[in-house]
Amino acid sequence: MTDDAVVPHSEHPDPASDTTSDEDPVNAQVEQVGGRALPIGTAGDSLTEVSLVVPTFNEAANIGHLLCSLHAVLTRTGAAFELIVVDDDSPDRTWEVAAAVASELPGIRVLRRTGASGLATAVICGWAHARGAVLGVIDGDGQHPPEVVADLVAAMDERTDVAVASRHVPGGGVSNWSAIRRLLSRGAQALGLLLLPGTVGRVTDPMSGFFLVRRDVVATADLDPVGYKILLEVLARGDVRRVAERPYVFLERAEGESKVAAGHYVGYLRHLMRLRLHPLRSQALVRYLLVTAVALLADAIVFLWIFDRQGWNLTRSAAIAGEVGILLTVALHDLWTFAGRATRGTIDRIRRLLGVQIALGTLLFGRLLAINVLVNWFHLGPLAAFCVALAAITPASHLLGSRLTWRGVRP
Ligand code: GDD
Ligand code: MN
Repeated sequence: MTDDAVVPHSEHPDPASDTTSDEDPVNAQVEQVGGRALPIGTAGDSLTEVSLVVPTFNEAANIGHLLCSLHAVLTRTGAAFELIVVDDDSPDRTWEVAAAVASELPGIRVLRRTGASGLATAVICGWAHARGAVLGVIDGDGQHPPEVVADLVAAMDERTDVAVASRHVPGGGVSNWSAIRRLLSRGAQALGLLLLPGTVGRVTDPMSGFFLVRRDVVATADLDPVGYKILLEVLARGDVRRVAERPYVFLERAEGESKVAAGHYVGYLRHLMRLRLHPLRSQALVRYLLVTAVALLADAIVFLWIFDRQGWNLTRSAAIAGEVGILLTVALHDLWTFAGRATRGTIDRIRRLLGVQIALGTLLFGRLLAINVLVNWFHLGPLAAFCVALAAITPASHLLGSRLTWRGVRP
């Protein structure tokens, strides 16, 4: 357990009219931090293993008891830890209550943030000040049971990047939530699945505000969340490969109110759209779209040349043209679009290339079938049939192709 977590208050003169003074052991515990977003960075210190952030706003009635429970649970894990309360200058002086506990128990830090608000950015602020190799977040109102922290710490073996406490795995759940609240929560998840299947679909409880993440997974990610959903941001922008999940039951609040307001639902939509559009700025997606266009063009040109110029029959021409398109897609994606993507050896690479061939080959077969039906039953011209079938099948082939092969390509 580390006991050098505290930076003396005197180093952060607080112009605010608080009657804090250097000799006041409680407020000496409080680190004043501004609203400017700081990078998380790779450098923790070798002493601290786990840094658990507790974001608070008006939780004076809950924070004292919670910090004591968390401190006991983490001590029992044997891990070197620090607890970091990030309070957005709560009118009920939650930071002061937390500082009182911090003056009694080692390994607790209190950041009093001014000039910014929001749960997710408060968490990132805490991570930016953290020293641990593993970063985490738990709510400050006691609705996330502290004892589950021990399960998450145990789940963070060397191969796990993120350990999530989930309400939607066996043994998980919520206490007495109204039908409306369940509907809203599930509805939000369904919308997330629709817009960000590759991200939201990776965990059973993407709305969970209770998880641990390996520092180097987020150290260089440019996290830029809106509102509450910090896990979504980590899954979408972090380099997350392996996720572990542990069950928990979301408890009723002992004191105080949830800070969730209608604005948070709009914030969630904005967050989804921001993550949805983020890849458009990404080079991989631009290359992906370019390769798709080149492959389609080659497909059409080869078809025209064989069918029109060489006079080969419709199906054979379309088959050869389609195969040319597939081989081009495979080669260009592997050598250009996803150049440098980590693969787990040659087997993995061959598995991917075969996966593309089988996926797109199956759809090519579907396309040939469609062309014949369009020409023989609906009396479309061969060229028109070729184009209609190509347009109809292409979206499916890329959805399937990217699912089967380029798992790294998400949103
Ligand atoms: N620093 C800071 N700034 N903390 C905040 C802010 C803020 O602006 N808003 C809320 N918090 C703190 C609260 O004080 C509490 O400790 C925690 O964040 C969660 O806030 P609640 O308002 O209690 O959220 P909830 O219970 O409705 O929803 C929680 O659980 C859901 C299910 O896991 C949140 O964690 C949601 O993100 C999560 O989806
Ligand atoms: Mn809550």
